[in-house]
Amino acid sequence: MQQRLPRKIVVLTGAGVSRESGLATFRDADGIWASVRIEDVATPEAFAANPARVHAFYNARRSGLLEEVIQPNPAHRALARLEREWPGELLLVTQNIDDLHERAGSRNLVHMHGELLKTRCLACEEVIEWRQELDLESLCPACGQRGRLRVNVVWFGEMPHEMERIYDALDACDLFVSIGTSGSVYPAAGFVAEARAAGRAHTLELNLEPSEGESLFHEKRYGPASELVPAWVEELLANRP
Ligand code: APR
Repeated sequence: MQQRLPRKIVVLTGAGVSRESGLATFRDADGIWASVRIEDVATPEAFAANPARVHAFYNARRSGLLEEVIQPNPAHRALARLEREWPGELLLVTQNIDDLHERAGSRNLVHMHGELLKTRCLACEEVIEWRQELDLESLCPACGQRGRLRVNVVWFGEMPHEMERIYDALDACDLFVSIGTSGSVYPAAGFVAEARAAGRAHTLELNLEPSEGESLFHEKRYGPASELVPAWVEELLANRP
């Protein structure tokens, strides 16, 4: 039976979409949480207790992301092509804090867990592009205060960004696609159920292996994102209205 063509698409990505660009995931055997504890580097309490250790953790990830070898992969580029060529609406929601979707050309994009290449000043609340080391001596470019900057990343226990915009898009979409995420962290892990609850959405999981939410997806394809995502985009665009 020919699937009715989706008019409104929401795509959710996780660390798996950036894995083939050379960035580590979190929960794979060689993932980030295999070598450092969340409670030591990714909570407001960790930052209050030992800001230097939290700064060092994100400084290492920032400098890693800025290495020349780290480039968007075919999955990022396929999603940017979909945004350019799809005649309906597309919202890309990423849990990732890297800038590979933007560098591939995606624009209608929400970083629900924030962005590694931005800092937020705790004194004046300004959010500013920041591509160098961040430490307790760093001066806020907006208000000049010293040592009041934090990486603009959402830590465990904090509210993800733009949740109202995301839920509005989930409730209105007729296709929800989850790419490269283990489905183990809420609220993102609940998006597939939200899309289905609104009644209309067809749901598709593209991942290296079944995620924790696998049973909630109407359709599942397993393999590397750099192969699955371009093939899926090509298939969708081949049938566009
Ligand atoms: N292609 C597709 N999927 C892949 C690939 C690949 N090349 N490599 C790994 N994966 C899959 C893994 O099988 C796994 O299901 O990507 C998923 C990565 O899962 P996690 O490491 O848990 O990353 P993610 O789901 O993005 O984590 C969500 O948790 O720690 C927090 O804030 C952090 O945003 C992160 C959130």
